[in-house]
Amino acid sequence: MTPQDPSGASREAEGAHTWAILVAAGSGSRLGSERPKAFAALAGRPLLAESLERLDNSPWVDAIVVAAPPEWEEPAILLAEELVASKVAAVVTGGATRADSVRYALAEVAQNALVVLVHDAARPLVEDGVIERLLVRLGEGVDGAIPVLPVADTIKRVAGGAVAETLDRESLVTAQTPQAFVADRLRSAFTGEVGAATDCSALVERNGGRVGVVAGDPRLVKVTTAADLELVERLLASR
Ligand code: CTP
Ligand code: MG
Repeated sequence: MTPQDPSGASREAEGAHTWAILVAAGSGSRLGSERPKAFAALAGRPLLAESLERLDNSPWVDAIVVAAPPEWEEPAILLAEELVASKVAAVVTGGATRADSVRYALAEVAQNALVVLVHDAARPLVEDGVIERLLVRLGEGVDGAIPVLPVADTIKRVAGGAVAETLDRESLVTAQTPQAFVADRLRSAFTGEVGAATDCSALVERNGGRVGVVAGDPRLVKVTTAADLELVERLLASR
């Protein structure tokens, strides 16, 4: 399959149809590195380099907006230059929450964009396979598509130090990024209060949007702690 937008129009006709927002503005408090997480070292280069390079090389992605931590905009621009990441259209200063960072980046996405992929720099090992699955699902007429993995553990809801409920594991999944959205649907989801949403899908769902799921990728590990960083380094070395 060649890269196409969900409406089936040729990409050459209009230019940048699929935009990627790469959110990298978090502080990484749980990682405990002295730099923001996006600039912590992964195999000798900033964590951000891995996902930025992969998105820039992806035939599915036309343009990229990076949300950088306050005071790290310049290093992010320099990194993009070093990587010759020619699709980077803008680097914006992120906000206090992930949703704020997405909102600021979304403001730089061209009005004629048809699809917006939102990806966490904290998930370095993004592959074209998952992006293709998302775009194909989006082409089936949903407002958004997200990669999910089955849950291995039994999940319980607790309250007041005791189990309130055991949830049906079969109907539960964990959500990853990148998440793909019809650009207008994502924009409408971000017009109101975004609150503490930890992913974009939650906002689109809340706005009445239908979000499809596709198979996630076990290698799309999210770097939260130092142990995750070591795991991703091992995965990177083993490919
Ligand atoms: N993020 C962001 N702006 C914020 C908070 C988070 O762009 N204000 C981004 C992070 O850079 C990361 C992704 O959202 O790529 C997921 O966030 P998370 O893993 O929680 O990263 P941090 O918030 O940096 O880590 P922590 O919660 O441990 O501080
Ligand atoms: Mg966080």
